[in-house]
Amino acid sequence: MNETSFTFSPITYDLCEPTAELIRICFPDMPPSDQYVAEDFAEMVELYAMGTVVVLDGEKVIGMGTGIFTDLDFDNLPATENGLLYDENDRSRHDFAGDYYWGSDLAVHPDYRGRGIAREIYRWRKKQVTANAKKGFAAAAVLPGYADHRENLTIHEYVEKVVAKELFDPTLSVQLRNGFRVIKLLHEFFVFPRSDNWSALILWENPDL
Ligand SMILES: CC(C)(COP(=O)(O)OP(=O)(O)OC[C@H]1O[C@@H](n2cnc3c(N)ncnc32)[C@H](O)[C@@H]1OP(=O)(O)O)[C@@H](O)C(=O)NCCC(=O)NCCS
Repeated sequence: MNETSFTFSPITYDLCEPTAELIRICFPDMPPSDQYVAEDFAEMVELYAMGTVVVLDGEKVIGMGTGIFTDLDFDNLPATENGLLYDENDRSRHDFAGDYYWGSDLAVHPDYRGRGIAREIYRWRKKQVTANAKKGFAAAAVLPGYADHRENLTIHEYVEKVVAKELFDPTLSVQLRNGFRVIKLLHEFFVFPRSDNWSALILWENPDL
């Protein structure tokens, strides 16, 4: 398969359901309440379609990355990612005037990994940051590789070793290679059993500012 045959598109109404299905495939152990459904993507079509990129091989959805613009105070983040993304009426907190792009999901179909698709998805989303003069791109990274090390390492020791490139994490290492740095660890920000519900708050700063 040649990467040049892949198409990158902003989210459209027709792509909402297959994009939600891709998330179900890529995050099998995340509870449904923490996963996007087609209606959430339909809201993004209305509010900020360019913030969600979908990758297609022909007509098949094989990758996606989504996010919103919002103000962020890294010392006082909402307790959960759902609280960051949605208000009390379950409406998106997307605010075009917000200082940061918050990347809430990234997924590449298992059959298409390791071909640079995530790198291209990051390129698209970083462009959202630079083209709109935002301060940066932040996200909470899952840490799936911790499951193999929890007997010997604390989560903080594990992340230190991933940052030092002594260990490879299938998610965080990819993000570090894409120019992100770890700000701190978050607990119970979302449910992710493979890292005991820990995640890493990561940031890519706009190099133009
Ligand atoms: C994380 C994920 C999106 C990566 O997608 P991908 O398309 O395979 O990633 P890429 O091919 O663009 O790889 C990006 C970089 O990581 C490196 N990389 C990726 N997988 C690797 C592996 N198994 N071993 C070594 N390096 C790897 C690549 O070499 C590349 O670096 P380079 O461009 O400097 O060579 C994909 O594995 C996935 O969907 N995982 C499940 C969902 C998930 O964890 N999402 C992130 C939520 S925070």
